[in-house]
Amino acid sequence: HKHAEGPEGGFSFEGAFGKFDKQQLQRGFQVYTEVCATCHALKHVAFRDLKEIGYNEAEIKAIAAKYKVPEYNATTGEVKTHDGVAKDHFPPVVYGGQGSPPDLSLIAKARHGGPNYIYALLTGYQPQPAEVLKQFPDAKIPAGLNWNPYFANLNIAMPQPLVSEGQVSYKDGTKPTVEQMSADVSAFLMWTAEPKLEKRNQTGWPVLGFLLFAMVLAYMSYRTVWADKK
Ligand code: HEM
Repeated sequence: HKHAEGPEGGFSFEGAFGKFDKQQLQRGFQVYTEVCATCHALKHVAFRDLKEIGYNEAEIKAIAAKYKVPEYNATTGEVKTHDGVAKDHFPPVVYGGQGSPPDLSLIAKARHGGPNYIYALLTGYQPQPAEVLKQFPDAKIPAGLNWNPYFANLNIAMPQPLVSEGQVSYKDGTKPTVEQMSADVSAFLMWTAEPKLEKRNQTGWPVLGFLLFAMVLAYMSYRTVWADKK
């Protein structure tokens, strides 16, 4: 299958100075809740984690309250549900369609290419190439599966989720093209998989600073030690 291609211009969090763009993460979260959440869970993310991408406590409370969270009582074996609160995680999703949608919390780390792969997958749906069909009529994609050159076995059970511009409407005025929504949700899923990415990007700098300092010290002591030997 094809090598993953990310959005034009890349992601804001790439490289040593890379940072998440919180506006983008919020747009991506909106795409997740309005489009992907029908089929995909996000079990490693707690509602209160959304603070990191710029939501305040009242907003988080309101988001959590929209979910019914199952609660298992180990003594009685009963399962009850309660309205979500900040400390709950996103609950499991009941899915009745074809295939099994994986939990998306860590998918950006689980797949080669990460967010670029997710972007390529979302924007890569296309009709099965006619030449392939002509040469290999038996290779026709089975009903209910979709051709996608970025998916490892080319036939994916997920129907194309982002199909048309304006599927979500963004509050910040960003134009919701298919490419934009795809990039936003890919960035959001990178955040869910690696929320500490910025910290990791930055830890190299103090190390370099220390090395530089150590070099200067070493040079100065070399000069001192050899000072009277000339
Ligand atoms: C698989 C993302 C919406 C059903 C996947 C995978 C990703 C993904 C990354 C894993 C592909 C892999 O294994 O490499 C998304 C995103 C969505 C979205 C970002 C929203 C924009 C949906 C919706 C449905 C769905 C709405 C159901 C109607 C599935 C299924 C699979 C899957 C069944 C398993 C596919 C297979 O193994 O053949 N999705 N998805 N997804 N998704 Fe989605």
